[in-house]
Amino acid sequence: MGHAVALKVNGESWSLEVEPAELLLEVLRSRVGIKSPKPGCERGDCGSCTVLLDGRSVRSCLVLAVEVDGHELTTVEGLGIDGLTELQQRMVELSSFQCGYCAPGIVLTATELLAVNPRPERHEVQAAMSGNLCRCTGYAPIIDAVLTAAATAAATTAPEV
Ligand code: FES
Ligand code: FES
Repeated sequence: MGHAVALKVNGESWSLEVEPAELLLEVLRSRVGIKSPKPGCERGDCGSCTVLLDGRSVRSCLVLAVEVDGHELTTVEGLGIDGLTELQQRMVELSSFQCGYCAPGIVLTATELLAVNPRPERHEVQAAMSGNLCRCTGYAPIIDAVLTAAATAAATTAPEV
């Protein structure tokens, strides 16, 4: 028997009937039409399916759709509506991605990090990103982009003296 679920995805309200065992990853991709969360390992190891649930990163392959009833989701489609975010811009400039399969999850995990820790140290970025695997770039341009975005944001928001 299906369960009624009401949720917001990137600010848009959705009412869905889901099966008890349906995964959030499946529902987002097949029912909501959001394709950025990618199926990778499908057991919580790779981070390619990452989404933000009420601002906190979760593996959508480990979350049941029924669990997000009443909650708010953000995917990479919901970022940079008016243009790329600072972080996304730096990732483009530093060629942080090659095939791009990991990119949505990495962008969201880094977005969460910068929201809770706007000036992270390199080791803090490395620790925060350690659950998002990338088979292409060797991670350095990803870490550099996060640090550069943080430094740019700090410089543009610093009060004048
Ligand atoms: S597909 Fe979800 S963590 Fe790998
Ligand atoms: S850019 Fe290919 S997996 Fe990360």
